[in-house]
Amino acid sequence: MDKFVVRGGNPLLGTIKISGAKNSALPCMAAAILTEDEVILENIPQVQDIETERKLLVSMGAEVQLGYGRAQHRTHIQCGVLSDPVAKYEIVKTMRASSLVLGPLIARTGMARVAMPGGCAIGGRPIDLHLKALEAMGARITQDHGYLEAKTERLRGAHIVFDRITVTGTEDILMAAVLAEGETILENCAREPEVTDLAALLTAMGAHIEGAGTSTITVKGVARLHGARHRINPDRIEAGTFLLAGAITGGDLNVDCCEPHHLGSLIAKLEQCGVRIEVGKDNVRVRSGGQLKAADISTEEYPGFPTDMQAQFMALATQAEGTTTVTENIFENRFMHVQELNRMGANISVQGRTATVRGRTGLQSAAVMCSDLRASASLVLAALVAEGESILDRVYHIDRGYERIEEKLRGVGAQIRRMGEVFGKR
Ligand code: EPU
Repeated sequence: MDKFVVRGGNPLLGTIKISGAKNSALPCMAAAILTEDEVILENIPQVQDIETERKLLVSMGAEVQLGYGRAQHRTHIQCGVLSDPVAKYEIVKTMRASSLVLGPLIARTGMARVAMPGGCAIGGRPIDLHLKALEAMGARITQDHGYLEAKTERLRGAHIVFDRITVTGTEDILMAAVLAEGETILENCAREPEVTDLAALLTAMGAHIEGAGTSTITVKGVARLHGARHRINPDRIEAGTFLLAGAITGGDLNVDCCEPHHLGSLIAKLEQCGVRIEVGKDNVRVRSGGQLKAADISTEEYPGFPTDMQAQFMALATQAEGTTTVTENIFENRFMHVQELNRMGANISVQGRTATVRGRTGLQSAAVMCSDLRASASLVLAALVAEGESILDRVYHIDRGYERIEEKLRGVGAQIRRMGEVFGKR
């Protein structure tokens, strides 16, 4: 298992480029199931979750070529024949987003067999809302030996009101609705840019969708979709993580090739913290003299403050003067970074869904353990300002969603290197 060795203290200076959004790329790859033609996706990030999704599609009979190293990280997917419409447990257990194939599989083949995702580190994360919506569209769902099986002749349009806002739930049902018979109205939808990105691809494939990016989406089903070419949005969470890296290290960092509109709530918070921000057309420059003020956050669905930035913001809060209250409203167990940050010298206490960060505390290097993707990013940020050399274990979590994070950070002056477990492997 690889580790990161990070020596803190360097301000980050220069320009860092943002990759495509993992959480857009995953549903867009699943959308290729909806047609037998070729779907070409550009700006696919080179991260482990994408490799897992490739394996998943290939195991079902698809042809997938991930074109890294060539122009634009271009990926060709062709689901000509889906000989085995099953999402096997061995794959689903490593990536919960595998449940995104449920809607497209049943829409295309009239049948889907998907291993039930278990709980995960950040919470129970059930998929009951996906299933309820598919049943309303005429799918018969049964459960056996840890698998869900959904069957139907053809899905039919329905009026669905999600009980709570779900990102992949909205995406899954949107993909089911585009090939359903008649009109589907989805209410209380997620408004995340990743949903809008998926809707843009589906529209390019011939789907009729209105309202993506708002809480009500209307879909008029079509009998067939065709191939398309689509460029994935920049990753707003990767961009946000680097903005915080610039701010926490007292740096001057230009976060380039991003979509500033998607970063509104984070930019507003950074300004409250006293960080100087300049917003360009596709870049954001962050400057900080290291004098940070506390600002409370409360995670919400988009366009509120993203739960996927909560852990990283908490690392920043340890360096702000005053007390910061961090409230996590989306997932019930997303404070696993707290214990590790406290081991580095932070002063954070947790009560229920709220963490209180008392700053500013000097951080010291330590050997720490990554527990999930965003918690790992928070530990990288803390290590960048800690005194001495920290060792971050289990960085496979970070490799699931950040493309070559250590190389990108090294390019702007961070002292960070990857250490393989095998002696001599770097
Ligand atoms: N929920 C249910 N029932 C469902 C679906 C969701 O109760 O059927 C609950 C969840 O347990 C959670 C809340 O609703 O408490 C919101 O969950 P949501 O379904 O929106 O999360 P998700 O779609 O599983 C996506 C991202 C996550 C991100 C969340 C919230 C992908 C692949 N994953 O997950 O990203 O945190 O939305 O914005 O898009 C990450 O990238 O690190 C990550 C965890």
